Amino acid sequence: MSLAAGQHRFFATCARGTEGALRREIAALRIAGARGDMGGVWFEGPLEMGLAVCLHARVAMRVLLEVGRFVANDADSLYTGARAVDWKNWMTSRTTLSVSADVSDVPALRHSGFAALKVKDAVVDALRDALGARPDVNPRNPDVAIRLHVQKSEARLFLDLAGEPLHRRGYRVAMTEAPLKESLAAAVLSLGRVDHDLAFVDPMCGSGTLAIEHALAARRIAPGLSRRFGFQRWPIAKSDVVRRAWDRLIAAARADVLPRAPAPIVCSERFSAAVETARKNAAAAGVERDLTFEVADVREISPRWPAGNLVTNPPYGERLMGEGTSTGGAPSSPGPRPGQDERASSSYSGRTRAVASGSRPARAPDGGTSLPPTRAPALRPDGSPAWDAATRDAHVQELKLLGLYRGMSEAFERFRGWGIVVLSGNPLWTDEMRRRPAISHRLFNGALEIRLLRYDIPPDGGGRLPSPSDEGRRSRSPGRGAPRR
Ligand SMILES: C[S@@+](CC[C@H](N)C(=O)[O-])C[C@H]1O[C@@H](n2cnc3c(N)ncnc32)[C@H](O)[C@@H]1O
Repeated sequence: MSLAAGQHRFFATCARGTEGALRREIAALRIAGARGDMGGVWFEGPLEMGLAVCLHARVAMRVLLEVGRFVANDADSLYTGARAVDWKNWMTSRTTLSVSADVSDVPALRHSGFAALKVKDAVVDALRDALGARPDVNPRNPDVAIRLHVQKSEARLFLDLAGEPLHRRGYRVAMTEAPLKESLAAAVLSLGRVDHDLAFVDPMCGSGTLAIEHALAARRIAPGLSRRFGFQRWPIAKSDVVRRAWDRLIAAARADVLPRAPAPIVCSERFSAAVETARKNAAAAGVERDLTFEVADVREISPRWPAGNLVTNPPYGERLMGEGTSTGGAPSSPGPRPGQDERASSSYSGRTRAVASGSRPARAPDGGTSLPPTRAPALRPDGSPAWDAATRDAHVQELKLLGLYRGMSEAFERFRGWGIVVLSGNPLWTDEMRRRPAISHRLFNGALEIRLLRYDIPPDGGGRLPSPSDEGRRSRSPGRGAPRR
């Protein structure tokens, strides 16, 4: 049996917390037995399955092909195990390569860089012995990217089929501050159970990622249709078997595309420059005609259809308010991708710790915001608050966020019969929405813990929880218990 047709083991990686969404995508490609693990999904099959996942998976970041698995307690056993892999299956002496490593829990292999160097030596030595010439290393733009993963003495070697990570679909031609990664946006849509046949609104669209990903999925446009992949530079990609398999996959993906999205998609924002960014990106993605672009404040929006999904990713820190930056919310030029706001004024992981230790965020006695919601200042000996500049700024920031969140939650109440999906990085939002979410899902944007929340607003608008100020009043009035949220 040819190498391409033989059985292989793959690991598709994704953001932590989105593994379930990725497993569903892989199952939808008729790949049986996919198994979720932390940060990704394992599956097995011929090489063509790996190519199909590269082309179709919206939530995946990379697709890795396992080429070796062995015990590595130290540098020598790592070298020996790596050298035993039949590298000439995947490379010639003219193939350039890179090795990256991620090593944990092995005392004799503390440095990932050193482990990567050992593997590089093993690969180069093995190929020189087999082919009489050694391949070159190209750390920036290799033909074959090798990845080493070692945990508790178990070493695994993978080849990266994707090359450029899969979230880089090729349509992001312009950026606003802190755009969502395309793969995370796709996971939000999947985990939030967003229906392609219903109207879709993102009222805080930034660079438009959620609306564009929704349009691509609704029109069944495979996310990898307009880009190239790492495996296309592998020697095996020139073989008839792989070429035919890839042509088949591309032809089927093209045939599946719908000419128009089945329902309206609205992309709006407070900043006109951001709306222009979204328009440019949508045009590059080939879905501009499916989207309507508007400049609007989220606090003033109302539904135009009896049912639909409002899906959004509000700011959760100072940078995302369009403040404290030279752009004031305007687009920035493409360049290094910032992670989303790591300077959020309070965070879900912080809240988890606060709740675990029994403390609650400080609130003014009337439930309002006349005290800092999460950071009370230290007190001077005379009892007056000792504000330092950083605490005061954080306080002002939180008050602004609270004002925005309160306005958003009032606006969202007008969307009766709609599903509201919010990717939130700040627990203040959870309080301000004043509804029990139908879905509350913990996930991670890099190291930052965030929440995907779906609220179903009933057609009669019922079921809203008391506001913090009602709660404060009730708890102070004798004989009435305050309902807990
Ligand atoms: C976290 S960003 C959204 C990023 C977006 N999901 C993306 O992928 O580019 C939040 C967006 O909300 C916008 N925004 C802030 N306040 C707003 C308001 N009152 N009305 C509408 N949009 C607002 C900001 O300009 C920013 O673009």
